[in-house]
Amino acid sequence: MMQEQLDRIKREALDVLKKTSLPEELERIRVEFLGKKGKLTAILRGMGELSPEERPKIGALANKVREEIEKELEYKKTEAEIKKQNEKLKKEVIDVTMPGRRLNTGTLHPLTQIIQEVEDIFIGMGFELAEGPEVEKDYYNFEALNIPKNHPARDAQDTFYINDNILLRSQTSSVQIRVMENNRPPIRIIAPGRVYRSDALDATHSPVFYQIEGLVVDKGITMAHLKSCLEDLAHSLFGEDVRIRFRPHHFQFTEPSAEVDFSCFACGGKGCNVCKGEGWIELLGAGMVHPRVLQNCGIDPDVYSGFAFGVGVERIAMRKFNIDDLRLLYENDVKFLKQF
Ligand code: DAH
Repeated sequence: MMQEQLDRIKREALDVLKKTSLPEELERIRVEFLGKKGKLTAILRGMGELSPEERPKIGALANKVREEIEKELEYKKTEAEIKKQNEKLKKEVIDVTMPGRRLNTGTLHPLTQIIQEVEDIFIGMGFELAEGPEVEKDYYNFEALNIPKNHPARDAQDTFYINDNILLRSQTSSVQIRVMENNRPPIRIIAPGRVYRSDALDATHSPVFYQIEGLVVDKGITMAHLKSCLEDLAHSLFGEDVRIRFRPHHFQFTEPSAEVDFSCFACGGKGCNVCKGEGWIELLGAGMVHPRVLQNCGIDPDVYSGFAFGVGVERIAMRKFNIDDLRLLYENDVKFLKQF
């Protein structure tokens, strides 16, 4: 009788176990059959009524049934875990052949690139960086540079005045004065920065633009030093084949003065769309520092001499990157900037 009951319980248990592999189900089945109030336990409670000969036989059988059910439970539990693990791995699968996602990194603005390139060239020659304020005194922007009030030379630079004595600097030449006031020769500086002029914005003019000023003052400085220095600049910027040309000019703060052209780096001087058919590109104003300017800064022009130059950054950038409209440099259109 009891033997049959045990057999039935075993079959029943193995039957339900076959049909599931859910961990919660397995636990419920364990409690139902093997728990303290489970079916197998209930039967074992009745063992007391058996004869002493039968008791060990049934006891051994009951243990065997328990073991078999436990074994099957264990097996199903392992199966469930493996299944779960496999599903997880399937979900987490990585296709290593898929193309990567590119990170969008920015680049330096073309004007910044040119400024840094020119800075590097001059720092390599032993120059130091200098700077001055954009809101400047008339004295530094004009008067100390030998451009007195009401002098016609002021007309060339349509200046934004804040009041009679304060203006937005129209040239980085103002930094020359600030440096010479505070330093004794030898002086070797370049000063990049923004300058302002009351010009309408068009393809070649902007009310705000960038210049880089250069100044060297020492004993025995001549125009030959200026020339070789600018030749180095031309070669570093545009290549060893580029030549430079000085054209006589007038600036109030230099004597003699020159405008400096570079031979076109794109066509070598034959004429092309980069140099607008000229073969030469005008890039700089330069000259020997006027004795009166040295004097204004307390430097004795009988002992010291110097050269200075000023270069337009936009001009270099436009020629170097072949940009035909200055406004592109200020609009910050990413489609444009991405190309540099
Ligand atoms: N300041 C001049 C300008 O803006 C450029 C210039 C010419 C600067 C001659 C100089 C120089 O230092 O020597 O037009």
